[in-house]
Amino acid sequence: MNPLLARLQPYPFERLRQLFSGVTPPAGLRPIGLGIGEPKHPTPDFIQAALAGALHDGLAGYPPTAGTPALRAAFTGWLQRRYGLTLDPATQVLPVNGSREALFSFAQTIVDPNKAGATVVCPNPFYQIYEGAALLAGAEPYYVPSDPARNFAVDWDSVPAEVWARTQLAFVCSPGNPTGAVMPLDEWRKLFALSDRHGFVIASDECYSEIFFGATAPLGGLEAAALLGRSDLRNLVAFTSLSKRSNVPGMRSGFVAGNAALIKQYLLYRTYHGSAMSPVVQTASIVAWNDEAHVEANRAMYREKFAAVTPLLAEVMDVRLPDAAFYLWAGVPLRPGEPVEGSDTRFARELLAQYNVTVLPGSFLARETAAGNPGQGRVRMALVAETAECVEAAQRIVQFIQSRPQTA
Ligand SMILES: Cc1ncc(COP(=O)(O)O)c(C=O)c1O
Repeated sequence: MNPLLARLQPYPFERLRQLFSGVTPPAGLRPIGLGIGEPKHPTPDFIQAALAGALHDGLAGYPPTAGTPALRAAFTGWLQRRYGLTLDPATQVLPVNGSREALFSFAQTIVDPNKAGATVVCPNPFYQIYEGAALLAGAEPYYVPSDPARNFAVDWDSVPAEVWARTQLAFVCSPGNPTGAVMPLDEWRKLFALSDRHGFVIASDECYSEIFFGATAPLGGLEAAALLGRSDLRNLVAFTSLSKRSNVPGMRSGFVAGNAALIKQYLLYRTYHGSAMSPVVQTASIVAWNDEAHVEANRAMYREKFAAVTPLLAEVMDVRLPDAAFYLWAGVPLRPGEPVEGSDTRFARELLAQYNVTVLPGSFLARETAAGNPGQGRVRMALVAETAECVEAAQRIVQFIQSRPQTA
């Protein structure tokens, strides 16, 4: 057996199950789940129709791992419209079966475990696939805390030069899960300079890029590179997904785009990995990438929901509208003398027990470092249910906080 499997951490939802074992929520209140970050808005009819329409011809042959020219043109067309980028559809994009498998398999392509001290840099808190991908690739993850005082920006400056020197891959998550923070151009400039100095590859996870709350759409990694004159996109690959943008998490469809030399090696890896996208999914993906109207409607639903929920919670918790994504990353109000340690898990357990609302303790999404666990004392709330349900959850949380005894 591969001994590295033993190093994988339990997934946050597994830890949540354990945390909630023995809790009996009030039967009179219907359960509301804000724990799992899975889109729940309906899949647009035209995507379903394209999927169904492709069945007849779509299953009788093996698909090419690189995708059809039409699919690749849909990717580059979208990159052009969204970011003003001109990428070569033949060499700079590849279809993937959702960004999760892509983030994982990309790490297996990039990391050389035989080099001493192979390191993969991850934000902290983070999406747990980064850590598992690093470990199974034979590297050590190095966790970089996000700074609440700077809109949860990942504190790249805190990473010692000797860690950068052995870093082979750095994950960026922008917009971030769970913080919703978008990485600004200055931070990209800094990270590119570090990558140039130390030679590591940057994997930019951008699966929440189309759900945002301000006037300007989130800056993408490739866009940042282009703005900074890095036209070869050296050492950079971005990961994009239809799951959240088009409400098709079950379709498993996304793409990667970036430096041609990296994409070439990644295609080689994927050919052996056996992860070509079904032709049926390719057909439905083309229509999805070519349409923005459904994306705007989806964004409008999230905006309405966040506008209704955030002010309610801001009355009782340290929370505000994020830049993007569909999470609130809220500070748990501490009662007099209550230690921050354990406050998020206590909050989640008591909230479920008294009000039948599930939230995810922040410490489950982050790792302990010398500076502590940056998820400690926070909870993640995924506003994926319908607005009325999310508002009801917020009202219950307000009641819960206001009625809590003043000692822990
Ligand atoms: C930060 C982040 N990246 C990637 C993914 C994977 O999404 P998908 O595989 O559906 O594209 C998720 C899913 O929740 C996520 O939160």
